[in-house]
Amino acid sequence: MRGQDHPGMKRFRLSVAGALLGGMLVFACGAIYAQNAPQIVPRVTGAAAPMGDVRTPPLARPIVDDKRVMRNYPEQPPIIPHSIENYQLTLKTNRCLDCHRRQYTEGSGAPMISVTHFMDRDGQVLADVTPRRYFCTACHVQQTDARPLVPSTFKDMLLVGSGKK
Ligand code: HEC
Ligand code: HEC
Repeated sequence: MRGQDHPGMKRFRLSVAGALLGGMLVFACGAIYAQNAPQIVPRVTGAAAPMGDVRTPPLARPIVDDKRVMRNYPEQPPIIPHSIENYQLTLKTNRCLDCHRRQYTEGSGAPMISVTHFMDRDGQVLADVTPRRYFCTACHVQQTDARPLVPSTFKDMLLVGSGKK
């Protein structure tokens, strides 16, 4: 039967070959495009070659000018404007409370933890800081001089809708 294929068969083979060729072309173009396409999403591994040696950038410096910073909204945990280097914060020791506890504020000049910090989750006001406010740095953080990773378009709510920028 060889050499005696139906004429339609030849056309069929041709078109299969054409489809294969076309597919390869699309694939090759895709690969070239993928190599040259602008990288829109930053790689999780950073800009350097994977597994390459990268110099660690220096840690950003904390801002420790002792100036209390305005809150951006009333419920914001105020940021820490002073150094907290080597301050122990463990189950047994809480260096923050040595200054910010009600009974120590007169000597330290630190603002007292606010009344919400004495309330348990049922709204009961306790004699001392509530366990759920014990680990201060879960909410209060320092600021650093690091360059922001993304621009911020945050607006104070007093200005929203006022037409002012
Ligand atoms: C040696 C005393 C001392 C210790 C310890 C201390 N603080 Fe302070 N803190 C102050 C004083 C004083 C201020 C007022 C601003 C200033 O002088 O820096 C302040 C301000 C703050 C503020 C800003 C409050 C506001 O309304 O703006 C926060 C938040 C804060 N401290 C959190 C902490 C945390 C969290 C720790 C522990 C990691 C801590 N502090 C340890 C003395 C202390
Ligand atoms: C669960 C989050 C959270 C934890 C934990 C927490 N705080 Fe706060 N803190 C806040 C928020 C929110 C505010 C502002 C609103 C308020 O007063 O409750 C605040 C306010 C403050 C203020 C300003 C008080 C004032 O009247 O201006 C100080 C000082 C403070 N916290 C210190 C501390 C210290 C010290 C600790 C650890 C013992 C601590 N906070 C733990 C969320 C937290």
